[in-house]
Amino acid sequence: MITVSQLINQSAARLERISETPFLDAQTLLGHNLGKTRAWLLTHPEENLSEAALTPFLLDLESLLEGIPLPYVLGHWEFFGLDFHVSPDTLIPRPETELLVEQAIDWITAWHKPCLVADIGTGSGCIAISIARYSPDVHIIATDISIPALQVAHKNANAHGVAGRVNLINSDLFPPIIERFDLICANLPYIPTNTLQRLKISGKEPNFALDGGSDGLDYIARLINKLPDHAAKKGTALLEIDSSQGEKVCHLASRKIPSAEIKIMPDLSGKDRLLQIKLP
Ligand SMILES: C[S@@+](CC[C@H](N)C(=O)[O-])C[C@H]1O[C@@H](n2cnc3c(N)ncnc32)[C@H](O)[C@@H]1O
Repeated sequence: MITVSQLINQSAARLERISETPFLDAQTLLGHNLGKTRAWLLTHPEENLSEAALTPFLLDLESLLEGIPLPYVLGHWEFFGLDFHVSPDTLIPRPETELLVEQAIDWITAWHKPCLVADIGTGSGCIAISIARYSPDVHIIATDISIPALQVAHKNANAHGVAGRVNLINSDLFPPIIERFDLICANLPYIPTNTLQRLKISGKEPNFALDGGSDGLDYIARLINKLPDHAAKKGTALLEIDSSQGEKVCHLASRKIPSAEIKIMPDLSGKDRLLQIKLP
């Protein structure tokens, strides 16, 4: 027999070589397997665990030790205070992307009218679905080039009760529709290919969700070029960028739409994270 605290300590010691948060990971994984909260684990350290409870936990622990990210092992992850299904076909939603969602909701609130929103490269659907959950008057069209990612987004839209207001479309950037968007949101791949190869996440999350080409701007530049054909009058685009790309994306946007108001916003750690383009 092994107790809760013994199992967490032993597992955390094994996870140390692959994780910066081994205790938290061990607690999260055990809580997930037992169907208990972290608070329960902390208040029941001497609880004995049966063989039946132990086996699935140990299998999941092996997956983590093989390098599979925790959210994929759990099958879900939190974003913007909401729980999202994730799979190896989708990017794991990142906390820095919450800035885009906050800005989108503020923009929609100030707009004061029903509006049509696009989420280009929706992945798990975390941006579109968070916006829809907190903004009842919007209709969102969310696209992705990956059908398996759209299947996960579909599951999330249903789970959050917004499937009627979030249309998911398989397309390359913008969907083939004539309506123009009041607000265009996008977190497209933006990591330069060479940089990506040196990152720990390389090979663990889908390459097509991360690799932005030689300077990381292949997709963002294409989207900026298409903006005038898809944005409504006085529409706005909010595009997540890498912290090194602020100057370049401002240049791209002002060259394509000289009359637009362009601004870069920092994330909570002070890094350039969001390009805002307000069209005339
Ligand atoms: C960085 S991930 C972002 C996923 C999600 N929006 C998020 O913030 O977690 C980029 C997404 O863009 C999608 N994508 C890549 N190229 C695309 C394209 N040409 N058109 C539409 N989506 C694309 C990928 O499949 C991936 O889901």
